[in-house]
Amino acid sequence: MEQQIRYARDADSNGRPIRLYGPEAFEGLRRAGRVAALTLDYARSVIRPGMTTAQLDKLCEGFMRDHGAVPATLGYRGYRHATCVSFNYVVTHGVPTNRVKLAPGDIVNVDVTPILDGWYGDSSRTFYVGEPALETRRLVEAAYEAMSAGIRASRPGNRMGDVGHAMECVARRERYTMVREFCGHGTGLVFHDAPEVLNFGMPGTGVRLEPGMVYTVEPMVNAGRSPIRVLADGWTAQTWDKSWSAQFEHTIGLTETGHEIFTASPAGLDGPQIATG
Ligand code: MF3
Ligand code: CO
Ligand code: CO
Repeated sequence: MEQQIRYARDADSNGRPIRLYGPEAFEGLRRAGRVAALTLDYARSVIRPGMTTAQLDKLCEGFMRDHGAVPATLGYRGYRHATCVSFNYVVTHGVPTNRVKLAPGDIVNVDVTPILDGWYGDSSRTFYVGEPALETRRLVEAAYEAMSAGIRASRPGNRMGDVGHAMECVARRERYTMVREFCGHGTGLVFHDAPEVLNFGMPGTGVRLEPGMVYTVEPMVNAGRSPIRVLADGWTAQTWDKSWSAQFEHTIGLTETGHEIFTASPAGLDGPQIATG
């Protein structure tokens, strides 16, 4: 039978329609999300001091391909790598390179988006390279808490402003700052789609959340000031003040009563972890 494309009541803040996905889509997203989760579990098991971010990228690419997936970032807007690898003061979109060698005490975010049978699974985690300093641990936990709060607020009856507000509150409570230049996004059959999922907001404002919406929740929390700058490579975003920054990302789908996390780790390794490689 021909499937009709359905859209949410509200368009997003830029006037773009927001697609609603049905049960078969959720099944596809579950499978793509699982590959994303397994890739990050794998990253945790191979990251070790002395490794370069380019080496890590190649290993993750192999893992995704071995699981029948294609990395969405390859060739995306001229990006030439299978993952983004963002360490310490790099906020997001870190370009893998052999010039960056991970060292004990570092943090590193690995962001992967395998495409499986056309479905996108977008997820990232920030790992500790060796034993972290207390202040490092506090920052990474705050980023994970912010994502978790955004996910908890993601249910029909709420609005997108509730999601952003919940995330920003966590950063503020910990005396950290939220990056404002990047946001989460709708996804599904398209990498970056409506709606925009801002990492800040006013409660009770914005798009009304509905079952069938699929989007990422991906706050970036800085230990210092909020502003970022993008390097000449056009991608790598780092904090202006070189303070450290942490991020977590899940892809979720809204259900009648709440949400489903497509990129949840089957092994329960979603939160801050010391890499074991
Ligand atoms: N995975 C990133 C996100 O969370 C997007 C990376 S786009 C790239 O949306 F081209 F930088 F890889
Ligand atoms: Co994303
Ligand atoms: Co991502």
